[in-house]
Amino acid sequence: MKHLAVIPGDGIGKEVIDAGMEVLDAISEISSFNYDGEFLDIGSERYLKTGELLTDEDISSIRRKDAVYFGAIGDPRVKPGVLEQGILLRMRAVFDQYINLRPVTSWFPLVPLKREVPFDIRFLRENTEDFYMGAGGVFGGSKKDAHVSVRRELYDLEIELGTNSSDGDDFAFEIGLLSKKGTTRFADYAFNYAGMRGEKRLTLVDKANVCTHIYGMQRTIFEEKAEEYGMGLDFMFVDAMAMAMIVRPETFGTVAVPNLFGDILTDLGAQLQGGLGMGGSGNINPNGVSMFEPIHGSAPDIAGQKKANPIAAILAAQMLLENQGYHKEGSILKKSVRHCLDNRFTTPDLGGKMTTEEVGKAVCEYILNQKK
Ligand code: NAD
Ligand code: IPM
Ligand code: MN
Repeated sequence: MKHLAVIPGDGIGKEVIDAGMEVLDAISEISSFNYDGEFLDIGSERYLKTGELLTDEDISSIRRKDAVYFGAIGDPRVKPGVLEQGILLRMRAVFDQYINLRPVTSWFPLVPLKREVPFDIRFLRENTEDFYMGAGGVFGGSKKDAHVSVRRELYDLEIELGTNSSDGDDFAFEIGLLSKKGTTRFADYAFNYAGMRGEKRLTLVDKANVCTHIYGMQRTIFEEKAEEYGMGLDFMFVDAMAMAMIVRPETFGTVAVPNLFGDILTDLGAQLQGGLGMGGSGNINPNGVSMFEPIHGSAPDIAGQKKANPIAAILAAQMLLENQGYHKEGSILKKSVRHCLDNRFTTPDLGGKMTTEEVGKAVCEYILNQKK
């Protein structure tokens, strides 16, 4: 029996998780996969009522679980960053989910590329460092000295820059920080992952020609690890990578990418799969509680209209199953998505006429038909 925390969150998060839960139910009917789900009321509604983002109680109930199934957060009534940092990024940090696995797979023939080539890129996005640490501030006035403080259990260290005497807001800054420890475990994970997939090389994306300090260090660590693992390593600057994903997506396998660039490239990747409604992801802590979610947000523009594509959330459920060791079940789920796409059982974003719920039901029907 697997114990899941289920966090639908905001907007279409709720709609796609409803569909995803039905799919997990269908899987549990035809296989040995069994689960119980505890729904956690985390998101904008609770925040607007109580001011709570991620409470100690939330954290301790998640700690007792095998995995988290997450929808999306974000609400136009709340200032940008409050929910994102206070809930999603906090969760990734507290549970040290340092790998964000985001597959970008061709779901032929729904690919918006001129050449219809199959591809299967595995983005491994570093998920706890870089420009995502909240290390920044504003400063100015008469004393132009900045103050930033970074605290992470991973380093057992508090970094202090400047003094705390800023008295103005003429400047704002955000620090991108990589640690040797964080980068080393990222590289280990990436080379192991590529090796497990039978690949001989991996691609590291960066902007080492501009952010020379952080990405220079990252290159050095990856080069050392490439040697240790006996694997090839290709460097790509992020701007060129964006272009290459359009013209030659089939040439990439495992791609390691720092946090911020990974966020951007995987939305591009989602579109290569048909749209944001097609991208599933796993926030992985190999030794802890991992969290599975679609890569899209709460989509306030379509929330409540029953037209959100649930496939991204369903593929997140598939990644959850695989992560928990249910490979056969994961592959049935993947086939069920294939079946829906082949038959054009899709929401309007993919040219179909179905509602979120109807697509979910079509997936379930296929799964239930696999019952032997
Ligand atoms: P978004 O991903 O919510 O939506 C971008 C566009 O894609 C919208 O036009 C939306 O309608 C469409 N779209 C997204 N998912 C879809 C789906 N499943 N089916 C059909 N169409 C879909 O990004 P945004 O509009 O930039 O952000 C909205 C809010 O979500 C913001 O508050 C943002 O911070 C938040 N956000 C949260 C997450 C998350 O929880 N993981 C991820 C991204 C954005
Ligand atoms: C994502 C989202 C988040 C990110 C935001 C909402 C903090 O865009 O999961 O891709 O930037 O990681
Ligand atoms: Mn994103």
